[in-house]
Amino acid sequence: MASLQIGLILGSTRPNRISPQFSISTVDVETFSLPNFNESVHPSLITDLSKFTSQSACAWNQEIAKYDAYVVLSPEYHGAIPGTFKNALDFLYHAWTGKPVMIVTYGIMSGASASDGLRVILESGFKMKVSSFAPKLEFPGRNPTKNNTSQALMEAMQGRLYAEATKSWENKTDEIIQGFKEILTSTAAK
Ligand SMILES: Cc1cc2nc3c(=O)[nH]c(=O)nc-3n(C[C@H](O)[C@H](O)[C@H](O)COP(=O)(O)O)c2cc1C
Repeated sequence: MASLQIGLILGSTRPNRISPQFSISTVDVETFSLPNFNESVHPSLITDLSKFTSQSACAWNQEIAKYDAYVVLSPEYHGAIPGTFKNALDFLYHAWTGKPVMIVTYGIMSGASASDGLRVILESGFKMKVSSFAPKLEFPGRNPTKNNTSQALMEAMQGRLYAEATKSWENKTDEIIQGFKEILTSTAAK
């Protein structure tokens, strides 16, 4: 299924406009083909990001280091973030330690456990400034008599984003905006 492409349109054209100073990029962990964690030391001891064992871990660190603030979007698998994502996070330290981040999760129970676990990793592990707003997107229509499954969840498992799900998430817009404001304020206060 084609991914939803979201364009950030810079609406000013003055020669010395500030709008190019804002940009949002998608960083897709999957494209880095990271190995299982294979550094002999904790990444906090690797200050030169070109010195990771594999080329992919160097590229992953260098990509993450480019940004001033982050929105981390994660599903919940078995009550936590996906193992592959945790593996990718284990390769990081200096690339983003101390920077602002907002956590957004999704799942049948809204990804609440994944969100809580991720907060511990980002706050305690990386000393990041984690936004107090952590929007949690719940697949609508869960049926407690059917193991909390729903049509929206079943569609998602097949890689389809059910329109009813995106509709029900519209009420998270304010929280997402508040989270953005908080991370932008933290970035400015650096
Ligand atoms: C291995 C696995 C475990 C899952 N565990 C949970 C879970 O604990 N809670 C939940 O809400 N959804 C769970 N799901 C359903 C996912 O929320 C759903 O498949 C979602 O589409 C996953 O996000 P993704 O499509 O971006 O991978 C699980 C899915 C998989 C594949």
